[in-house]
Formats: sequence, C-alpha cells, structure tokens
Amino acid sequence: MRDLTSDTITEAVISTMRDTQDPRLAEILRSLVRHLHAFVRDVGPTEEEWAAGVAYLTRTGHMCTPTRQEFILLSDVLGVTMLVDALSVRRSAEATQNSVLGPYFREDRPRHSDAADISGGLPGTPLFFEGRVVDREGTPVPGAGVDVWHSDADGHYDMEVPGRSDPAMRARFRTDERGHFAFRSIRPAGYPIPGDGPVGELMRATGRSLMRPAHLHLLIEATGFQRVTTMLFPSDDPYLDTDPVFGVKQSLLESYDTYEPGTGPRRGLTDVPYTLLRRTFVLEALPAD
Ligand code: BEZ
Ligand code: FE
Repeated sequence: MRDLTSDTITEAVISTMRDTQDPRLAEILRSLVRHLHAFVRDVGPTEEEWAAGVAYLTRTGHMCTPTRQEFILLSDVLGVTMLVDALSVRRSAEATQNSVLGPYFREDRPRHSDAADISGGLPGTPLFFEGRVVDREGTPVPGAGVDVWHSDADGHYDMEVPGRSDPAMRARFRTDERGHFAFRSIRPAGYPIPGDGPVGELMRATGRSLMRPAHLHLLIEATGFQRVTTMLFPSDDPYLDTDPVFGVKQSLLESYDTYEPGTGPRRGLTDVPYTLLRRTFVLEALPAD
C-alpha cells in the first residue's frame, strides 16, 4: 500500500477493514468510504474548503449539550432524519405516519388522567383534544401510552418560557378501554428552530426559513404495534410548505376548528373562543414472531 493515487486510494482504504467482524458494520463502513470519496471527487475541495468543513463539524459538536443536539438538528434540516424514517419504517397507507421527534421531548413529563388540563395555566386559546387509538381494522387499542407535547401561543416550549422550569403543555396519557384519551391545553404556535449555531449558519447561507408550522407532537406506544412519533399541523398554517425539517405530511394536517364561546361541542367549558381537535390514530401491528 504505497504510492496510492486518486484512482487506487478508495479500494485501499476499504481493504484495511477486511477483518471487521460485524458484517453490518463492514457494509456500512465500505459504503461510507465509497460515498465520502465520491463526494470529494465530485466537489474537488481546496485544502481551505476542507478545513472549513472540518471546522463546521467541530462547531456543530461544540454546540451540543445535554439539552441541545446540533447534529440531530443538522440531520433534520438536511432531510436525513425523514429519509431514514421513510426507508426504515414500513407502514401501510392507512396507518398514522411518522414525523420527526425533535429536541423538546422530556422524560420528566407528568402522568395525567383523561381530560386533564395540561396548559400549566399559560395564556392562549383553549384547545380541547379528543384522541382515539385503533388498529388497522378499527378495533380500539386500550392501554396505549400517549405522550403529548407542544409549544405555547408564542411558540415556546415549557423549558423556554421565561421564569418557568416545571413541565407544562406536555403529559403522558393511557388510552381507556375504548382506545380514547382526551386533554385540554392551549393552541400551539409555530416557532423557529434554533438558529444561533452552525445549523442557523447553514440556513442563512442558503436563504431558508427557520420557521416550523404550528403543531402538536404525539408519541404513541402499545404492545404489539409499531411506535408512532408524529405531529398534527393546522391545515391552513402558512409554513407548511417550507418546514425546515421536512416533517409535514398531507395525512398529518387537521382542521383546528375554532368556536365562539357558547357554541360548539365544548360550549359551557370556556367563555372565550376555543379550538377543538379530534383525531383517530391508526397503529400498524408488528409482525407476529
Ligand atoms: C420540533 O418540532 O419540536 C422540532 C423538530 C425538529 C427540529 C427542531 C424542532
Ligand atoms: Fe415542535
């Protein structure tokens, strides 16, 4: 292995890995080297450009903390997170589709019983949510764990609301024997993804918007079914077609119906205009083994 050239170096690197014990790791590394070398051949970076790329990834790493994961955000804005999902999760068309998890899920969310108010007293348009979890035949799935989390009327998650650290606008529910769960909260607003790091640099350099459309996050788990990590977007949101993380799917749009006080199915529960959202989630069964 001497005097390697641009024609011979790729296979030479791959041959150094021939003793890799794990066959999947061997396959991944072979492909990584081939694609990385192909990228360099395609772009033909100068030494300065390559150093700038390394410095960019270094800044990305330095930006990471226990609560900030800039590499995942980079994967999100490059469409890789949704591509991995599209290729690795096989689900029938009628089952509820996935979207990105995002950085705002918290393990320390409260467990709530049905119909709880999870707004933490924050101001906003009251939102009433009624959910139902079923299998592909429409049979209710009782005992499913349902996580919900969302932003407030200013687009802030609880950890970003000034002067607040306790969990709000998030909870874990369990579906009842009819597969139902319900809660009350406030209507979420759209917000920008974090733009103060290397991902922000990339977005500004490419003229892309940081704004995500408004959404509710839901994560649904039940024994014998694929886990669903999803979101529901208002169908009239102005940012649906420029979502920086490519998480919007037509099947995840919902009309967030708004009613005047004293009208609609929740009249009597509030004296201000409110939003009612109803949704059935369809789980895909795991193959029996
Ligand atoms: C979110 O919706 O919480 C989110 C998803 C990906 C990147 C940033 C935020
Ligand atoms: Fe979000």
